[in-house]
Amino acid sequence: MTRVVYYCASTLDGYIAETDDTIGWLTGYHGTYAGPGVEAMAGTYDRFYDGIGSLVMGSATYEFILEHGREWPYKGKSCWVLTSRRLAIPDGEGADVRLAICPVSEIYDEVVAAARPRDVWVVGGGNVASQFADDGLLDEVRVHVVPVVLGRGKPLFDRPLPGGPMRLTGVVPRDNGMVELTYEIERAPT
Ligand SMILES: NC(=O)c1ccc[n+]([C@@H]2O[C@H](COP(=O)([O-])OP(=O)(O)OC[C@H]3O[C@@H](n4cnc5c(N)ncnc54)[C@H](OP(=O)(O)O)[C@@H]3O)[C@@H](O)[C@H]2O)c1
Repeated sequence: MTRVVYYCASTLDGYIAETDDTIGWLTGYHGTYAGPGVEAMAGTYDRFYDGIGSLVMGSATYEFILEHGREWPYKGKSCWVLTSRRLAIPDGEGADVRLAICPVSEIYDEVVAAARPRDVWVVGGGNVASQFADDGLLDEVRVHVVPVVLGRGKPLFDRPLPGGPMRLTGVVPRDNGMVELTYEIERAPT
């Protein structure tokens, strides 16, 4: 079954970007860990990405990717960008970016259909993840926790999650000192 997964990296104190949208704390991070249960960081993203059929992101995340990448990194997969603005779309073969201004519930069926039989990646930010969670449309949170404390920034989630606590389904310490946590969110029966 296609699942909707919020996959990202967060500081120990729950931020996914600095207030000015920079992520030097992530791109510049180097660490090591060699304790029990450790697994390599290398290859983690590629394995996750292979299981993804479509993506959804907010406009700040989209603009960051356009600004910092040489070419569109998600070729061959449909990507919905939530925005109230008429943003530029990457050209080039394989780029499939669709701008949407609506509640996430309105694009949900189309996003899931595009992903099948793979999963949907909610790239971020925290506000978009909260929109999915508010509507009961988020199945899983997978977060690499980076041992950095910012004290302020863009939060992992924008607001409290409805329902009870998430259920921890995975803990993987990485050889670079990050820890991958996986949580399942139980959807309310419809
Ligand atoms: N650490 C990580 O793994 C990670 C992951 C993802 C993102 N990031 C970073 O975290 C930051 C995220 O910033 P953020 O949370 O402020 O922003 P965001 O979610 O990327 O974008 C928010 C913006 O998207 C638009 N939007 C959101 N929902 C909408 C809807 N339903 N309909 C229409 N438009 C909608 C609005 O802007 P407009 O209408 O003005 O366009 C809104 O201000 C970025 O710097 C990003 O690069 C980090």
